[in-house]
Amino acid sequence: MIYMKIVLLGYMGSGKSSVGKKLAGVLGIPFKDMDDEIEKQEGIPIPNIFSEKGEIYFRKVESEVLQSILTRPDGFVLATGGGTPCYGDSMDFILGLEDVLSIYLKTPLDVLTTRLFSQKENRPLVAHLKTEVELNEFIRKHLFERAYFYNQAELIIKNDEECVNDTVEKIILKLF
Ligand code: S3P
Repeated sequence: MIYMKIVLLGYMGSGKSSVGKKLAGVLGIPFKDMDDEIEKQEGIPIPNIFSEKGEIYFRKVESEVLQSILTRPDGFVLATGGGTPCYGDSMDFILGLEDVLSIYLKTPLDVLTTRLFSQKENRPLVAHLKTEVELNEFIRKHLFERAYFYNQAELIIKNDEECVNDTVEKIILKLF
């Protein structure tokens, strides 16, 4: 098995989970998803954590789960949540681990808007936005704030392709 820890970063809807699953399959290492791990630990879905315990609580759990996953000895591909590197010292923590490679999946605003509009119900930060125009405006501002963190990733891969395989291929070419 290849010993490798890869952390995918990027905005909601940037394809971290679909690219991550495929990439892990190609590399022959396990795929892990931060949101799944948080839900497993808390025993309730993400939207319920936000509504019942609040975002500050969610961010605390998120940073603890990140640290516990990244310090495991095994290799994996980890899809983070869109906000994971943007709170506390999480980005510095990721960058400080020598055996972790961080990759920012950079996806254009319009692609994010279209994808998220059809999947916003499970995402508490955008579920309240009614129209695609409102969502687009929200993402534009939010992405501007978060790009500071995402852009610190060791690799930046454009993920505007329709096809997950193309993005995975771009990553593989950078790895070997
Ligand atoms: C969030 C992104 C979500 C999830 C939570 C908060 C964010 O993950 O962690 O709703 O702050 O961007 P995805 O990026 O997998 O949607």
